[in-house]
Amino acid sequence: MSGSLATLRFVPLNKSHIPEILAIEVVTHSAPWSSKSFENELDHKHGIFLVALVDGKIAGYGGTWVLIDEAHVTNVVVREDLRGLGIGRKLMHELLTRAREMGAVCATLEVRSSNKAAISLYDSLGFVQATLRKHYYPDNGEDAVVMMLDDLIHWPK
Ligand SMILES: CC(C)(COP(=O)(O)OP(=O)(O)OC[C@H]1O[C@@H](n2cnc3c(N)ncnc32)[C@H](O)[C@@H]1OP(=O)(O)O)[C@@H](O)C(=O)NCCC(=O)NCCS
Repeated sequence: MSGSLATLRFVPLNKSHIPEILAIEVVTHSAPWSSKSFENELDHKHGIFLVALVDGKIAGYGGTWVLIDEAHVTNVVVREDLRGLGIGRKLMHELLTRAREMGAVCATLEVRSSNKAAISLYDSLGFVQATLRKHYYPDNGEDAVVMMLDDLIHWPK
């Protein structure tokens, strides 16, 4: 895959993406999603799950559920060799814009307190820390930072 983002596009998750996504997922998260978790996103009535393609290959993926008027971001990943190029930011823009079109007026997410890159990304998008959930992650007992973007209607400011 070239490093060029000229071909970057976002498509809805389909079943054929899942094996490649699982390979990325296991090297990314200490508690990776299962195949079943991704399959559940395929026909999720209140969900948006997008795959970022660069040169037709999977560069990242992410999803959000729209629960009444709140977008809850469930997963956001950029392939390790393509990080720092702006794909994560574009993916979040795409997810939040589509969530707003589905009726979301605010957005929330949880992130590991040690995940400085993700916290910095969310911070730069306008999310603020709402609360801290102590020992939230069962795999290592790490705290979760709960972040909120409270005005998606007028976002980005
Ligand atoms: C978090 C993640 C999705 C960011 O994707 P990315 O494509 O590398 O991010 P971008 O290039 O769009 O960067 C956007 C912003 O994120 C922040 N950021 C990205 N990488 C960073 C790093 N290594 N250190 C600090 N901040 C970082 C910066 O604020 C950056 O803005 P800037 O370029 O103006 O400085 C990516 O690092 C990733 O996939 N991490 C592993 C999975 C993960 O932790 N997901 C989040 C779970 S809640």
